[in-house]
Amino acid sequence: MRLGVSLRLLIPTLSILLGWNANHVYAVECEGRDLYTPFPFDDDKTKYRVCFSNTGDSKEYDCPDDLNFNEELRSCAAVFIPMPKCTFEGERFKNPLVDDDDCINYIECDKDLVFFTERQCNTGEHFNPLYQDCVLEAEYDCDIDIPDCSHPDFQNRKWIDKESCDSYYECVGDIIVSRTCPSGMYLDVHTQACMYNSAVNGGCQVPKPQPNYLVNVETMCQGNVGKFLPDPHYCKAYYYCVDESTPYWSPCSDGRYFENETCTKTRASSCICEDLTWGDSSPKSVNVPHPDRTKFYVCKKGVQAEEKSCPPGTTFNATKKMCSA
Ligand SMILES: *[C@@H]1O[C@H](CO)[C@@H](O)[C@H](O)[C@H]1NC(C)=O
Ligand SMILES: *[C@@H]1O[C@H](CO)[C@@H](O)[C@H](O)[C@H]1NC(C)=O
Repeated sequence: MRLGVSLRLLIPTLSILLGWNANHVYAVECEGRDLYTPFPFDDDKTKYRVCFSNTGDSKEYDCPDDLNFNEELRSCAAVFIPMPKCTFEGERFKNPLVDDDDCINYIECDKDLVFFTERQCNTGEHFNPLYQDCVLEAEYDCDIDIPDCSHPDFQNRKWIDKESCDSYYECVGDIIVSRTCPSGMYLDVHTQACMYNSAVNGGCQVPKPQPNYLVNVETMCQGNVGKFLPDPHYCKAYYYCVDESTPYWSPCSDGRYFENETCTKTRASSCICEDLTWGDSSPKSVNVPHPDRTKFYVCKKGVQAEEKSCPPGTTFNATKKMCSA
């Protein structure tokens, strides 16, 4: 019964949705592709292509302005800044939100394990992302991945390999040697010795930042076949569930908004940064209100909205576009 209803809706809807009269045939591109699963078509991912049949009917689309095709979301989306996942209060990570050539900025997990406080190391220290802590500049060179053993500052010392915890470099005089700590140990630069690694008590771990996606394209259509679902990352687009594992993404036409299962001219309440316009002379970043007045969003061109908290005792003033006491 359900299948009958879905199919009846599916076929007319899809032909309208996809503009089937404008088909092009590119059989080669569609070989081995899943149908209705878009894939990027150019290097900078401003275009994508969708295959609609096994014989290679496919069509090319442009992403909306400032968005790029994202394979994990099967959609055009603003860029996500990968954020680390907090596992305990006070956990520290390199701050992915600032350009930081000096390696002094880090973020610390708040007790809700979702939000972060931005902090800086003391003078004379650098943030070491593997130790998740500030260390003396003499113990961590943030500019150089591999120590320059010809320079006296590096000689006869051990230096961490920034990619891994158990391997390290040693400058034996001016000769560089790659070494590995025994299993379960890491190089502690401070003591210059291999120590037992325990992430709880300092130690060393390679951070794995993840984009904080709000949809899972593998599961979002389960139980939703034939439905239009909102795209939580872009209020002017939706996913149509072709089958249990195929969400087909599409922006609304004419710049309309998607809300209440349809594209409308009324601005959707889920919009955050999507309908700001970015001219050449406009500021690089704009603060916009959050439903919770102790928070706000930072909008930047082509980047996903970033949620921030106002300092204690202040709330966001929408007129001033900043936190205010
Ligand atoms: C969607 O529905 C809600 C509740 O019925 C309504 O308040 C809102 O204005 C609707 N949004 C649009 C864009 O029509
Ligand atoms: C926000 O700032 C404006 C301009 O300074 C001020 O007039 C207004 O009272 C402030 N609003 C709140 C809620 O504090």
